[in-house]
Amino acid sequence: MAIQKPQRYRINDATRTFYQEFSLKKSDFILPLFINESLSGEKEIKTLPGVKQFGLNSVLSEIERACNLGISAVILFGIPKSKDKSASEAFNPKGVIQKAISRIKKSFPHLIVIADCCLCEYTDHGNCYIHNHNHINFEETLVTLGEIAVSYAKAGADIIAPSGMIDGKVSAIRKALDKQNFPLVSIMSYAVKYASAFYGPFRDATDASDCSIDRRHHQMNPSQRLEAQIECDLDLQEGADSIIVKPISHYLDIVRDLKVKVNVPLIGYHVSGEYAMLKYAAQQGIVDEESAFQELYLSLKRAGCSKIISYYAKEMVGKL
Ligand code: PBG
Repeated sequence: MAIQKPQRYRINDATRTFYQEFSLKKSDFILPLFINESLSGEKEIKTLPGVKQFGLNSVLSEIERACNLGISAVILFGIPKSKDKSASEAFNPKGVIQKAISRIKKSFPHLIVIADCCLCEYTDHGNCYIHNHNHINFEETLVTLGEIAVSYAKAGADIIAPSGMIDGKVSAIRKALDKQNFPLVSIMSYAVKYASAFYGPFRDATDASDCSIDRRHHQMNPSQRLEAQIECDLDLQEGADSIIVKPISHYLDIVRDLKVKVNVPLIGYHVSGEYAMLKYAAQQGIVDEESAFQELYLSLKRAGCSKIISYYAKEMVGKL
């Protein structure tokens, strides 16, 4: 005779809520924002339905709307007026992200401001590295990343998120921050970032110069599982405070692997292509938008993510 009858967990809303093991909460979500120095107002991003670029004059209103819904953290991406070989706009004290951070922090001092720290939006060739005569200059790239991080910290950033997958990035940034007396600015490292087909719309969102760049020499091969552990361990040894896994939907095994081994927060980045696919499916009536996003984000929590970077963050938080 069966003694267990799992249906008892689900007989009505009250029992389902009572037995609920995982749940989503407002503070789980981090909202990405694209800030375009040349833009006045807002601009739709063609391949990311519902997501916009903002000018420096409109981003504060967007943040106010987001905060009113319950967003407590944002991650910023900049689109500079000009790009060059050395990504100099990325560490310009009057650059787009530096200006944005100081304005945001002045108006919303309690909002967690995370600054994505990479070169690809600022180099004229669109790569995440400094190049000399077609060779990657690793040393100069690391020095530049340190400079960028310090300039974001000076502007008031709470967290620096290096996204370029260059070995030694966390240690270079940690040393630069500590040297300039920012020991409490933390590092959220894109430690486990796969070379993925799902970043397509992000190039659109950041007006990237070349979408065809092959990033497989620095981003991870989707065939690799153990390497995720190596990347994560290295970044933790170098001083990372939290770890991003990206993309996420097809990498929940990786999150689970890391979850049982490390004890820092794991952040899942639901990237542009993953978001767009769900949005387009919902627009076609194939899935119900809200339930589909909710179900996916619960799976991230089950796997072990403690935070979720999502282009759907405002909508999700608004419904919680
Ligand atoms: C690099 C960066 C990328 C994304 C976030 N930071 C592009 C890349 O890794 O190639 C992609 C995020 C997305 O697709 O939503 N600055």
